[in-house]
Amino acid sequence: MSLREKCPVLKFRDLGDERGKLVVIEGTQAIPFAIQRVFYIYDSDSTVVRGQHANRESEFILINVAGQSKVRVTDGKEEFIVELNKPMMGVYIPKMIWKDMYDFSSESVLLVLASTHYNDKEYIRDYDEYLKEMGIRK
Ligand code: TYD
Repeated sequence: MSLREKCPVLKFRDLGDERGKLVVIEGTQAIPFAIQRVFYIYDSDSTVVRGQHANRESEFILINVAGQSKVRVTDGKEEFIVELNKPMMGVYIPKMIWKDMYDFSSESVLLVLASTHYNDKEYIRDYDEYLKEMGIRK
């Protein structure tokens, strides 16, 4: 499976009408996991790079509900960049994928849905360690 197939860009159904737009995301239906945690990142700007980690246990969906940002994902071999710029689109990030989020617009609100409760121990924050755990580097 290619990295793009492992990290699909999802398009959510827009239930909007003349009153405005509405997007619903139900765990295990529109996305492949039950949601245990929600967090959002805002007030970042074009100079910062966030993320820079992989997770041994957690799966995520990233959605820019306002503004835009970019997400670079890699498995240590392939990489690609997703521009998140619509509230009805998201990217799925499975376990053990390295991710960087950057180029935040000033109004960016990056919503993250996660499959787990927070546990710092399941984060890999060192890229060399990540490559080791992926069996790419000794
Ligand atoms: P961090 O993982 O550095 O954020 P990002 O992935 O956006 O770069 O998290 C920033 C701080 O917030 C860090 O001290 C850990 C804490 N944190 C929690 O307590 N719970 C959470 O669910 C998350 C995502 C972070």
